[in-house]
Amino acid sequence: MLNLFTEDYLEGLRCGDFAPRPRISGRLSSYDGLLMEAVGLQLPVGTVCAIGDGESRVEAEVIGFRSGKTLLMNLGGPAALLPNAPVRPIGAPGEAEVGAAMLGRVVDGSGKPIDGLGPIRGAGKWPLAGKLQSPLDRGRVLQPLDVGVRAINGLLTIGQGQRVGIMAGSGVGKSVLLGMMVRAAQADMIVIGLIGERSREVADFLETKVAGAARARSVVVAVPANHSPVLRIRGALRATAIAEAFRAEGKKVLLIMDSLTRVAHAGREIGLALGEPASARGYPPSAIAMLPSLIERAGTDVHTGGSITAIYTVLADGDDGNDPVVDSARSILDGHIVLSRALAERGVYPAIDLGPSVSRVMTDIAPREHVAAARVLRRHLATYEENRDLVLMGAYRAGADPEIDAAIACHPAVMEYIRQGSDEIVTLPDAVTELVGVFGHG
Ligand SMILES: Nc1ncnc2c1ncn2[C@@H]1O[C@H](COP(=O)(O)OP(=O)(O)O)[C@@H](O)[C@H]1O
Ligand SMILES: [Mg+2]
Repeated sequence: MLNLFTEDYLEGLRCGDFAPRPRISGRLSSYDGLLMEAVGLQLPVGTVCAIGDGESRVEAEVIGFRSGKTLLMNLGGPAALLPNAPVRPIGAPGEAEVGAAMLGRVVDGSGKPIDGLGPIRGAGKWPLAGKLQSPLDRGRVLQPLDVGVRAINGLLTIGQGQRVGIMAGSGVGKSVLLGMMVRAAQADMIVIGLIGERSREVADFLETKVAGAARARSVVVAVPANHSPVLRIRGALRATAIAEAFRAEGKKVLLIMDSLTRVAHAGREIGLALGEPASARGYPPSAIAMLPSLIERAGTDVHTGGSITAIYTVLADGDDGNDPVVDSARSILDGHIVLSRALAERGVYPAIDLGPSVSRVMTDIAPREHVAAARVLRRHLATYEENRDLVLMGAYRAGADPEIDAAIACHPAVMEYIRQGSDEIVTLPDAVTELVGVFGHG
């Protein structure tokens, strides 16, 4: 009992504001559900404010100013605010709680724990927007990272510090694939940002994919779709900041962001609310411009030897070739893994479509015979796909073309290599040995 009391009491003291400065407060002059304008305030962008009192109190973040008014964006749900409601700053501009204290925990976009395990004590601080780095602080990607998935380890080898996109429509196995990597990846810790998914999917991912031993080495930032767009962006920044702090300790971090598209959607909502014109497919320029600055924060650090290997999922539904998020992700990332609905429909899981998938660093990090064997497999698969219709119709006569004969003969082995049960783990050495053993001789 006494324990409970002192815990709460100390927590209360910790959160108290003892700074001897006058309280500033402004007044709400306009509010349309998402965007607010306040007068009588001078606060840096990023400051969190409390608007209103008592029942109708809601939190909002300063996102800019215009002709003497401070623009804020609602962080909570709908609120019954009155004109001239008081606006008071309550938090400094963005810092994230980071460090070993976060391991095993689940927090929301504003950093509050939502796993019911009580307050987080002893966490460090790191700027949400990251610390500015020179391009020369970024090391090259030279070491492979074992992710426990045969097709990726063998054919699309991921390097420590690489940024990879998983491009897929909905329901083709992204979450299952990410779950396999969460369980098996040879990283010191895993930071998972679940941004803009449905709440049910978040709960499901936590219960089924980040359970047991995987939970103990993971930090999860979960911001479902019904949270304010500012919180969704903060969630993405927060997950990246947590990963950066671990990297600064020299750790090998795997950062998983599901999904980058939803982060861009949040940026779109904010941009449009601010009156920015929509250019590319309804996205204002700022929403797309935000993506490179987020992705550039991953990578290796030459000073500490730590690395952030980042995996971003990108929604690519309906074979939409000119979706601006897909386009910019493709150009900024160092590789992408495309999941195909056609393969999923044929029951091939993970439904990795090797043709359009690439790892741009594979030739730097994999030994020559490994790269050569991967090339042979890809060539057989491409030949088979090109002639698939002929073969299936029976229009191809065996012996007419040795290349096609070899491709047909190898096809079952190729598909067997890609297929992997969701609870199976295939290490990098095993994946390479199998690949070189079967396809190493041309
Ligand atoms: N490796 C796998 N083995 C068997 N079934 C799978 C595998 N990956 C995905 N599936 C099937 O596909 C469904 C959708 O996968 P999910 O990862 O939830 O898709 P997404 O996250 O892309 O919407 C799963 O419920 C499961 O039935
Ligand atoms: Mg999913």
